[in-house]
Amino acid sequence: EHIYVFNYNVQVYDATNTSIERRKLIHHLVCNRFGFKLFFVESICDDPKIIESNIMEVKIRSPDYKGMNKDEAVDDFMKRISYYQECYEPLCEKEEKHLSFMKVFNTGAKVLVHRHEGHVQSRIVYYLMNIHITPRSIYITRHGESEFNIQGRIGGDSNLSERGRMYSRALAKFILEQKILRLRVWTSNLKRTIQTASGIDAPQERWKALDEINAGICEEMTYEEIHEKHPHDFASRDKDKFHYRYPRGESYEDLVARLEPVIMQLERQENVLVISHQAVLRCVLAYFMDEKSEDLPYLKVPLHTVFKLTPVAYGCKVEQFTLPIDAVDTHREKPEVPGTIM
Ligand SMILES: *[C@@H]1O[C@H](CO)[C@@H](O)[C@H](O)[C@H]1NC(C)=O
Ligand SMILES: *[C@@H]1O[C@H](CO)[C@@H](O)[C@H](O)[C@H]1NC(C)=O
Repeated sequence: EHIYVFNYNVQVYDATNTSIERRKLIHHLVCNRFGFKLFFVESICDDPKIIESNIMEVKIRSPDYKGMNKDEAVDDFMKRISYYQECYEPLCEKEEKHLSFMKVFNTGAKVLVHRHEGHVQSRIVYYLMNIHITPRSIYITRHGESEFNIQGRIGGDSNLSERGRMYSRALAKFILEQKILRLRVWTSNLKRTIQTASGIDAPQERWKALDEINAGICEEMTYEEIHEKHPHDFASRDKDKFHYRYPRGESYEDLVARLEPVIMQLERQENVLVISHQAVLRCVLAYFMDEKSEDLPYLKVPLHTVFKLTPVAYGCKVEQFTLPIDAVDTHREKPEVPGTIM
């Protein structure tokens, strides 16, 4: 499996049948032959409750058990566990003192890091220390329609429109009806998200990191004005929207970096509602839905819509609720010819 952990190139090799001998072989191949860094992650779990819920939630949904009935799958998995108990040799600080590794006990109750070798590894440790397996959902929505949305202006810090205020009330009602346990609400620092959250009865936090992409010299302009005043920039952005950076502003790539601490905190949280902005939420959705960076700037995140993301084994369940209040459409497709207004 080939994954990107915030712009670092990391290869994950998932295998449980591991002996000291076998790790020696892997170390020889990866480090000596290919010259890469190697980091072992061992997850140790002796809490019967966690084991049982893991089998029920995760293992029987695994591709290995496709088409098998539940009892057969559980039975087979219990056999696998006892087989591995017999032959598995745990990572050993004495015999394998040259290896760089991490041990996670009972899904994060305790963590041990041995011979950590630098930046990427510390990011992996940080990430694995933040994820959890407690069931929860992340609710995501943009602010209600704003005055600037109606005028077709980007950026700025305008108030909600009349329909935006209606959405704010409808959202509070929707959230109440969902009866969400220990909900927390995160907004950006801008007026339109704070106003959208105003009717929701839950603890709230403001995050500057959730503010909309900074459009630099194009802030508060309409696309027509940008097209007219900065035609070259307008076309460059269409050619490579992910990497294009607004002069004195940000690119989507910058945004992904700015959002890293938010995403780490989101991983740690239980139920949370995030009220933010189109570009920011494209990044958040792309992270949880595993979208490619070139598709990210074109993800559809309409106004007055709530996304409910529920992490499940091997992915994330996504539900979309459109609340019945009209709003302008702020989505702009990638044009056939870069720099043209549609
Ligand atoms: C696990 O190790 C045993 C003993 O070395 C070997 O027979 C078996 O094929 C291995 N299984 C996998 C899936 O690699
Ligand atoms: C935004 O709303 C506040 C409070 O209702 C008001 O004082 C302010 O003038 C409004 N701003 C604009 C730009 O309409």
